[in-house]
Amino acid sequence: MPHLHLRTPASWAQALVPHRSELLVEQAQLEKKAAAGALAFLFRYPEERAFLRPLSALAREELSHFELALELLERRGIAQRKLRPAPYAERLVALIRGEEPARLLDQLLVSAVIEARSAERMHVLAQAMADVDAELAAFWAGLVASEARHQALYLELARGRFGAAETDARLAQVLAHEAELLMRSAGLPRLHDGPPLSGAPCA
Ligand SMILES: [Fe+2]
Ligand SMILES: [Fe+2]
Repeated sequence: MPHLHLRTPASWAQALVPHRSELLVEQAQLEKKAAAGALAFLFRYPEERAFLRPLSALAREELSHFELALELLERRGIAQRKLRPAPYAERLVALIRGEEPARLLDQLLVSAVIEARSAERMHVLAQAMADVDAELAAFWAGLVASEARHQALYLELARGRFGAAETDARLAQVLAHEAELLMRSAGLPRLHDGPPLSGAPCA
């Protein structure tokens, strides 16, 4: 796991427990987005042969997560709807430089960091949910290992393409920025938002 500069406290997840139905709607949305993100690399960089099979598999896995969320939503009679997204992803994407090949490196790193943060927060959510809603706790806990693997894959692809030194130097910048923007919460019940976090990022 890349060393996230900010650890999500249990209190963050506890505050979101009453919003779990909305979080589940969002989770379906996030899984679709994650699949689309992996596919976007395949469209944009068809010449990157090392990317093709792993990212195709990753997209399929994200869609299987989408279907798991869908099943829970349907079983619980929760209607899917479009939710206002957390500003998190858009703010991270703003870090991506415009010119190639820096653009490719940044896109891989932003994807890796989003996967890492997702895994971290799903784990905290699962713990907070354990006594309240065992089924949802198991759902989130069951996704953690996959999302952690996804972040490892994006990092591996970046290191394979750009080398460890360049990748890790840029990763440190992305991680620092990520921690900073996570502190600027919009107060929405979302995986990458939620109640404002207090305290300074722990480096
Ligand atoms: Fe996923
Ligand atoms: Fe993922």
